[in-house]
This record gives sequence, structure tokens and C-alpha cells, in this order.
Amino acid sequence: MDIIHADFLTSQTDPTKLPVADKPEYAFIGRSNVGKSSLLNMLTGRKGLAKTSSTPGKTQVINHFLINHNWYLVDLPGYGFAKTSRTNRETWDIMIRTYLATRPNLMCVFQLIDSRLEPQRNDLDFLTWLGEQQIPIALIFTKADKQSPNKTQSLIAAYKRVLRTEWASLPPIFVTSAESKVGRPELLKFITEVNAKWGESQKIEPVIVPVDPNEIIPDESEW
Ligand code: GTP
Ligand code: MG
Repeated sequence: MDIIHADFLTSQTDPTKLPVADKPEYAFIGRSNVGKSSLLNMLTGRKGLAKTSSTPGKTQVINHFLINHNWYLVDLPGYGFAKTSRTNRETWDIMIRTYLATRPNLMCVFQLIDSRLEPQRNDLDFLTWLGEQQIPIALIFTKADKQSPNKTQSLIAAYKRVLRTEWASLPPIFVTSAESKVGRPELLKFITEVNAKWGESQKIEPVIVPVDPNEIIPDESEW
């Protein structure tokens, strides 16, 4: 699949007033400044379609984009943005979680993680929450151009080691760069495959977070 059409639809703060949920939908979530809006622009090939900034907290609402007239891509505000009021943070948190937990056509939530950082508690906590909600997820390690591929791979390995202590299985993992376009074909291929499940009313399997750590039976070949 290539992206021929990418149209901005709505900016919304009320998760009950979103575009009609009649198409497969994908959302980007992650801490502020991780590169959600930049990835949306890279994927669609439209610089400036989603607003980006080097200052965290740029995206503050739920932004829907219609892709090729038949699926939605959603740019969300980030979490962990310190330079705002507590009330603002709580409002965003409720808005984002309500959207993620209730949107019926959400095929997969891509959680973005800065590929340069050791595993961060707030990312892991958000990921666990997504798992507990049975929301299908995939991980995207961003900003890969900022370091060597070896360094990126060793940080992903560190991430997997942490996940392995808490998770029964591993979500799909992608590495991207909004600068070099690394990861674009892989992401589009994945979305194409998941879109094909829409007609069958299927989503990708959610990753189960086991309640009892003894239930974790890691398949070494997967890790
Ligand atoms: P919020 O809307 O505040 O939550 O941030 P965001 O996650 O949407 O991040 P955004 O896309 O606005 O990018 C934040 C900063 O990181 C900008 O200065 C981008 O230019 C930069 N950036 C994003 N992705 C990449 C990347 O892949 N490589 C490099 N080198 N810089 C990137
Ligand atoms: Mg943004």
C-alpha cells in the first residue's frame, strides 16, 4: 500500500464526538516529544499535516486523519508532559484513556518509545494499562537516525528483557525515523495486513498481561 490521500478531519477533545467509527483506526500514543506527529507526517508523506514542535506538549487534542478514504490515523497528545498544570494533565489523561478504552474501531494502538532511552517507568506503566484494557498494541522505537543501529538494537533488547518479566507475549516491534524514513514500508505493510481483518471483524490479538507472574511461560525463540 502507498498513501495517496491523507486528509485532516477533526480535532476533538470529547471522545464521544469523534468521526463515525465505520473504518479501521490506528492511533499513536507515547510521551510528549517522542515523535508521534512527525511519524504521522513521515508515514503519510505530508510534511506539516500534523503539527510538530521541539517543545513538548504540542499536540493537545485528538486529531483524526482519513487515509486513502478508507482508514483513520489518529495523532494523540503525549503523556508525561511536565510543563503544564496538574488539571491539564489530568484532563488529557482522562481524554486519552477514555478514547483508547472505548473506541470500537481501534485496530491497533502504536505506542512510541524513544529508541535512545533505557526503559522508562511511565512508558512501561502506560503499556501495562493498554494490555490490561485488552487493547491491541504494537511498539515503535522512534528517532533511530539519532544513533547507530547497534545501539538501537541493544536498547530494544533491554526493553524486551523488562517486558519479559511482566508480559506473556511480545507485541509487534518496529523501528522508525521520521528523518530517514526507516520503518515506513514495514509499518504500511503491517497496517495493510490488519486492515484486511476489518471485513472479518477481527483485530490483532491483544497481548495478555498475566496477573500471576508464575503464568509467564516465555517462548525463548520469541524473545
Ligand atoms: P507532542 O505533540 O508534544 O506529544 O510531541 P510528539 O510526540 O508529537 O513529537 P513531535 O513529532 O512534535 O516531535 C518532537 C521533536 O522531535 C521535533 O523537534 C521533531 O523534529 C523531532 N523528531 C521527531 N521524530 C524524529 C526522528 O525520527 N528523528 C529526529 N532526528 N528527530 C525527530
Ligand atoms: Mg504531537
